[in-house]
Amino acid sequence: MSAKILVSGVKPSGRPHIGNYFGAMKQFMELQHSYESYVFIADMHALTNVQNPRQLAENTLDVAIDYLAIGLDPKKVTLFKQSDVPLVAELGWIFNCITTMPYLERAHAYKDARAKNKEINVGIFDYPMLMAADILLYDADIVPTGADQKQHIEFTRDTAEKFNRLFGETFRLPEPSIPESVGTIPGTDGRKMSKSYNNTIGLFAPDDEIAKAVMSIPTDSKGVDEPKDPDKDNVFALHKFFTEGPEFAELRDRYQAGGIGYKESKELLIRNMSKFITPLREKRESIAKNKSDVLKVLEEGAVAAREKANLKMDDVRAKVGFKLT
Ligand code: TRP
Repeated sequence: MSAKILVSGVKPSGRPHIGNYFGAMKQFMELQHSYESYVFIADMHALTNVQNPRQLAENTLDVAIDYLAIGLDPKKVTLFKQSDVPLVAELGWIFNCITTMPYLERAHAYKDARAKNKEINVGIFDYPMLMAADILLYDADIVPTGADQKQHIEFTRDTAEKFNRLFGETFRLPEPSIPESVGTIPGTDGRKMSKSYNNTIGLFAPDDEIAKAVMSIPTDSKGVDEPKDPDKDNVFALHKFFTEGPEFAELRDRYQAGGIGYKESKELLIRNMSKFITPLREKRESIAKNKSDVLKVLEEGAVAAREKANLKMDDVRAKVGFKLT
């Protein structure tokens, strides 16, 4: 039996933080060994809100470098950019024609944009159909994403079912793979780490930035000797991700017994966080120096992705009546 298929897209939208890493990015690294994987940078989706060509291109390349730096292996994963497989727009169009406006009006992202009185382009409205095409074009079995993408996967499944009903069995229904919320990293203020809260720590942050961010984490005012509840402390919440095994257990005991101050706990966190981030940052720097290698990975990925997509589209075109034989 051939391997199951994983498909996921990453929107190029600025620098990743450690919350992104433990939220969605890490999943790819773990799953790449057991699936036939297609991971693309969703530059066509990004065009709905980034309309500055230099910035879009720069962000796209940055994401490719980020993923290679954290260990995505281009020998195992077909890594490419979405716009290199323009067939996806053709399939998106076909989905547009079998989808109603009221159905798309139910999308959270669209409703949010409306509630905020934002100007909504047709691309934003139609975002879920392009995403359905992204996923169904490669016959995905699973789609690893963040929790915010759940509705999009439901739309994808509905669209596959609708097409299958109208034109005969063609698309497989994909399952979402969403990391459990225990994996949610708190930001420097204790809320979920998110760019919109301005409480992030960069995945590739230099040491001084790590130190500054950790030192800014608010704590209560308990003195060094007082017992502390580790589960109520924002510093400890981050230790869960960066401090391992016996050191972590010992830290918990010291919190509960009293005898460790927040300053010491922060210093320990800075050290361990830096131990995790430094090799990633150095790897990223060295990959970024060889831009042409990165472009080559994306080009080879595009060739493989187009090949797969073409086969599927042949079938789809015949099913809808684009073939005149
Ligand atoms: N919408 C996703 C996001 O904002 C990006 C994306 C585009 C995607 N196409 C996809 C994710 C297909 C998974 C599968 O993060």
